[in-house]
Amino acid sequence: MTPEIVVFGSLNMDLVVRVARAPRGGETLQGLSFFTNPGGKGANQAVACARQGARVAMVGCVGEDDFGRTLRNALAADGIDVAHVRAVEGSTGVAVVMVDAEGENRITIVPGANDLLKADPEALAGHYLLLQCEVPMAEVVLAARAMRAKGATVVMNPAPVCQLPDELWSLVDIIVMNEIEASELASLTVTDPASAANAASSIRRRGPSTAIVTLGSQGVLVADDAGCRHFPALEVRVVDTTAAGDTFIGALCAARAAGQSMDAAVLRGIQAATICVTRSGAQSSIPYLHELDAR
Ligand code: RIB
Repeated sequence: MTPEIVVFGSLNMDLVVRVARAPRGGETLQGLSFFTNPGGKGANQAVACARQGARVAMVGCVGEDDFGRTLRNALAADGIDVAHVRAVEGSTGVAVVMVDAEGENRITIVPGANDLLKADPEALAGHYLLLQCEVPMAEVVLAARAMRAKGATVVMNPAPVCQLPDELWSLVDIIVMNEIEASELASLTVTDPASAANAASSIRRRGPSTAIVTLGSQGVLVADDAGCRHFPALEVRVVDTTAAGDTFIGALCAARAAGQSMDAAVLRGIQAATICVTRSGAQSSIPYLHELDAR
């Protein structure tokens, strides 16, 4: 069956250290705990879509190693179609994630197998395409071109922050950014809903009809043909912000794929991300639909 959502992106094994604070240059600190957890922006977004009830296919690469098998199995356990998650020579992508007492993370990725991802047209069929910047940009453009030509809605998450090629701007329907990404892409400093609205308007002029800026505790700013709207954040005790953006995007896309309005989908995204930040880790923290419904 054709998937509703195709995610073309990265899979990483996250190596997570909790610390009281990040060490300074040249300093050695003792961490509080260590664990591994499936991650990668692409895979996290696929899991977030699937846990909100969408039919999802992942297109990505892992290495022929234990991390790769674990990551692939984790997606399959969430009901995601992994037929196009290829095992290639070399090591699976890893992310070294440091999470401090405030729940804020600092992440270093080593792409490994993610760098070998190719946009195979056979793998690219569905109603929505989700893209990020942890796989080769030339292949991201090819994937967007292929699925746009088949009538799909293209959703871009420019993370980790990167400049997008001109052609990609014209292929993206919905762009979802945090304040750092919006600042970089709009060449202005985004600190609050008002500056996010300015950035979103300027970014919409480059192609995407919808620009969404996530602002953490300051909520979410949406700009589209219906105008500019600000959605406040829900108050919660933050444990770990890892994958909060991925969770927001996945829940938003699943809601859109299920026929919900943009505003209803944004609210779903906020609810899902709010639950995510109360838990540790990437995929381990992404909530299921019944958890949102229960609230
Ligand atoms: O967005 C969070 C993700 O970024 C982590 O899971 C890590 O793997 C990096 O890709």
